[in-house]
Amino acid sequence: MKRMLSGIKPTGELHLGSYIGALKQFVKYQDDYEMFAFIANLHCITVPQEPEVLQKNLHDCVALYLACGLDPKKATIFLQTDVPAHATLGYIMCCHTYMGELNRMTQFKDKQAKGEKNLSGGLYTYPALMAADILLYDPSYVPVGEDQKQHVELTRDIAQRMNNRYGDLFTVPEPLVGKVGARIMSLTDPTKKMSKSDGINKGCIYLLDDLKAARKKVMGAVTDNLAHVHYDPENQPGISNLMQIYSSLNNDRPFDEIEKEFEGKGYGDFKCAVADSVCELLESIQTKYNEICNSDIIEKTLQQGAEKANVIANEKVKKVQKAIGMEIVK
Ligand code: TYM
Repeated sequence: MKRMLSGIKPTGELHLGSYIGALKQFVKYQDDYEMFAFIANLHCITVPQEPEVLQKNLHDCVALYLACGLDPKKATIFLQTDVPAHATLGYIMCCHTYMGELNRMTQFKDKQAKGEKNLSGGLYTYPALMAADILLYDPSYVPVGEDQKQHVELTRDIAQRMNNRYGDLFTVPEPLVGKVGARIMSLTDPTKKMSKSDGINKGCIYLLDDLKAARKKVMGAVTDNLAHVHYDPENQPGISNLMQIYSSLNNDRPFDEIEKEFEGKGYGDFKCAVADSVCELLESIQTKYNEICNSDIIEKTLQQGAEKANVIANEKVKKVQKAIGMEIVK
């Protein structure tokens, strides 16, 4: 069975974009692949965090992995810092990544361009840590949303570079980016990605949002005055974004079918249907989330996940250190 790995960095609450672009894919693939899904808490601290808020977000991230359908019997679910090999290989990766490569990574570039002050060194080198997260486990595929593809491509470059220099150390992974829903946009500004870093806003639907609030956000989504449900991201970005959400929450329904269903109907009808789908999803996730929070499944899942992940990751770090010549005893 081929292996797959991915992670989420819960610097804020999980939202519909992270669900459609990533989490839903993890769940879909867990039957056919050996799935590793982790919570990237080392990545969280690349930007300042309030300790209590971070702790709650990490807890909720595991609970939501489970509530969205990841099954600890099938998938290995773990917290990044429970596997110290991530930090060790992260440092080694840093030493094999060029500054020119890190300079090209859009996340750091964007923050710098916005004039954000006191950006951390961790934020700058974080793609190297992400390469370590992946390469420790030799996955064939890494399911991610569009914005993370660049990091998986860098991971491939680093893996190939190290394989050429030290012999066959790593499987070179491929990013797996869904055709629909890989970039869910903000409901208030469909030219921007739906993002947890925007804090409380009307453009982002959080998985733990109150259902009424979520419905209101969908009904208030920015559209256009063309009065025609049609998939055209360039000229109708708001409607096209809602179509992506609707399709993704209805078994990847093709866009032409959605266009037919809403032919001659107003945007109000379409938004209502999208809101129904979103609320149905949120309700089911939240019911399971509440059950999970009232049980001991989170602790058990993380313990069991860390045990399995540590065995694989420690073996890989040993192999890499030996190949580089960092170990004294052969
Ligand atoms: P993060 O936490 O920003 O996002 C988690 C996953 O959700 C996807 N995503 C979206 N997809 C569609 N539309 C959106 N609006 C949207 N917002 C987020 C992201 O593309 C991502 O797949 N660096 C990573 C976490 C990470 C990781 C890894 C991922 C650390 N190590 C190793 C894979 C493999 C991150 O910050 O994702």
